[in-house]
Amino acid sequence: MKQGFPEDFLWGGATAANQSEGAYLKDGKGLSTADVMTAGKHGIPREITKEIENDKYYPSHQAIDHYHHVKEDIALFAEMNFKCYRFSINWSRLFPNGDEEVPNEKGLQYYDEVIDTCLQHKIEPLVTMSHFETPLGLLKYGSWQNRKVVDFFLRYAETLLKRYKGKVKYWITFNEINVMSTKPWMAGGIESTDESVTMAAAFHQLLASAKTVQLAHDIDPDNKIGMMYAGHIAYPNSPDPEDMQATVDFMHKMLFYCDVQCRGYYPAYKLKELERKGIELPIHDGDLEDLRKGTVDFLSYSYYLTHVVGKETSLDFQGLNGVKTGYTNPYLEKSDWGWAIDPKGLRYSLNYLYDRYQLPLMIVENGLGAVDEIAEDGEIHDLYRIGYLRDHIIEMKKAIEIDGIPLMGYTSWGPIDIISASTGEMKKRYGFIYVDVDDHGNGSFRRIKKDSFYWYKKVLKSNGENLE
Ligand code: BG6
Repeated sequence: MKQGFPEDFLWGGATAANQSEGAYLKDGKGLSTADVMTAGKHGIPREITKEIENDKYYPSHQAIDHYHHVKEDIALFAEMNFKCYRFSINWSRLFPNGDEEVPNEKGLQYYDEVIDTCLQHKIEPLVTMSHFETPLGLLKYGSWQNRKVVDFFLRYAETLLKRYKGKVKYWITFNEINVMSTKPWMAGGIESTDESVTMAAAFHQLLASAKTVQLAHDIDPDNKIGMMYAGHIAYPNSPDPEDMQATVDFMHKMLFYCDVQCRGYYPAYKLKELERKGIELPIHDGDLEDLRKGTVDFLSYSYYLTHVVGKETSLDFQGLNGVKTGYTNPYLEKSDWGWAIDPKGLRYSLNYLYDRYQLPLMIVENGLGAVDEIAEDGEIHDLYRIGYLRDHIIEMKKAIEIDGIPLMGYTSWGPIDIISASTGEMKKRYGFIYVDVDDHGNGSFRRIKKDSFYWYKKVLKSNGENLE
């Protein structure tokens, strides 16, 4: 019997443009929604300003300057034996205001370099088309509330699919699409949390994704297009049937995005909820057919933590940091940022999602955000990170070997330290590679290999067998 990870398992790491590239106005790039977000802290939200204010610090502006270190950074990934690098393309590098007819050639040349460098190192690029960065210029249309933005996105997607035909095979349309229900600004430049607005915006993103899937298959039948779910997974607080129902309700809030993208239609529970709330989706002729035809080839998701939900829970939570599930899981430890660490929950989530969708799965984010110190010997001994990742990889392996889950790959989050999305901090580090820059953007930007670098390199060399 064949045991272990499949030979073609896509091991690697994942980043996002606004959290890593910096160079926020270089070579004709326009502003994106990420570029007007200041830095916050654990418990202190990031501020969104209308324009750039000189006395404020905006972490995306220089981030870790991946833009100018991209060859060096990918070479370090290759040294760790990466088979896959998931990164995002910043829409506003190609279409600075979002609505231009012709893309910015200089922006494309940068991504040519990223992709060609990956291919030189035999690293499979996995490209996210939209990862928490919408061109700020689209706000004048109301961003994703407006159907026009679907067409602007399709122009952008077509540009990518044609330019990188034969070079990029794996694509994700929207990062953590269900974040539209928790942090609509990040998900798509939506300022209101009113559900009639967020549900219209979500509909337009789901439609744009479905049309992109069809386009991608037309342009190259070898393309594999995935959806990406912010892996909210919840346990009931007790065997009380009311706690169980609350958990079902919570999961419905999150999972309807997966239902649409994997099954091709809005589920009954969502339609009933919208009807009760008097919300009408902006559906035009042919849209439902597009949703049906544009189902994804695989389901990818981020997995960091699990929630506990019960009957007292408020379902109107705002964002990961502010999840008001109201309960602490007494069986789990928490990270310094309060995220419940739950490796066994990873196996549970894989089973849960596979049972529901029967599609190939991929873990495209997982990792421990922690404070790293440079020790007296000049090294970073991040054994806590190794422990976290090892425990998760063990559970992933069980899901493959015992449960028969078709798992395509695993890209850990932030293989090199990058800016935190939720807090904008630099000190919340996930990387195997330390970057010498602090929360105020000061530092040499030097890259330093942590202990986890050498560990992950061994793991990948052994195709997940050597976890010591
Ligand atoms: C996911 C996002 O929500 O979690 C990433 O897709 C993000 O962009 C990651 O960075 C980790 O969250 P944080 O807030 O610790 O950076």
